[in-house]
Amino acid sequence: HKNGLQVAIDGPASAGKSTVAKLVAKQFNYIYCDTGAMYRAVTLKTIRSGISLDNEKEISAIVRNSKITFAPDENGQKVFIDGDEITQDIRSENVTNSVSAVAAIADVRKQLSAQQQEIAKDGGIVMDGRDIGTAVLPRAEVKIFLIASVEERAKRRYKENIQKGINTPLEELQLEIEARDYKDSHRKISPLTKADDATEIDTTALSIEKVVSEIAKVINLKLNLN
Ligand code: CDP
Ligand code: CDP
Repeated sequence: HKNGLQVAIDGPASAGKSTVAKLVAKQFNYIYCDTGAMYRAVTLKTIRSGISLDNEKEISAIVRNSKITFAPDENGQKVFIDGDEITQDIRSENVTNSVSAVAAIADVRKQLSAQQQEIAKDGGIVMDGRDIGTAVLPRAEVKIFLIASVEERAKRRYKENIQKGINTPLEELQLEIEARDYKDSHRKISPLTKADDATEIDTTALSIEKVVSEIAKVINLKLNLN
């Protein structure tokens, strides 16, 4: 692609996707795009509008009539819907526990995938999500599938929460992660699954730096081939 490779990073909740995707993007001077933030933005607006999570028609209309935008920030990126900043608001427990229902709606996926393809069309991008390597960018030059044990992933979320002053018990976080992974892996349209040609990295015992350097190796291999 004109601006470089398309790098797709998929995997279950809290496997480290966004953390490493941001660092990889920085290293290669690529754009970073957090597709989960787009599903979260739609979910937040749905909740704020008082629309029920099973009202597919109204939720599709929300996607059609909203503009989700990103702006670079020292910690990654800020997220906006219709010009209002929602970077923090989309990380709330309420949004986290509702987002998989919204993400299962066919028309929501269709519209957001099209926006993601437009953002990625010139390459030079690291995009993270659940279906990037399988559905959004099936021809991405680099596909990474990050996994980690559910215990480790719950611990990571727990630590993150403590820093934000949130005290949800570890067991509860683990159940929440399992429930979301189940929904994301069992929906009809583009469920969470590893692409056949993706490189799987188990991050359970790996530092962030190590995961970034493993992904950088895969990218450099591709770049040297071209
Ligand atoms: O960061 P975290 O693992 O909590 O999740 P996220 O990447 O912010 O994604 C939130 C939710 O959006 C996921 O649990 C999926 O339901 C949905 N999602 C999706 O369906 N497809 C994507 N490409 C990205 C996210
Ligand atoms: O985007 P995703 O939900 O996959 O995960 P994340 O939000 O990037 O990472 C969840 C947490 O795990 C963050 O606090 C990271 O700092 C941490 N993490 C880690 O401890 N070790 C890694 N190898 C990767 C991430």
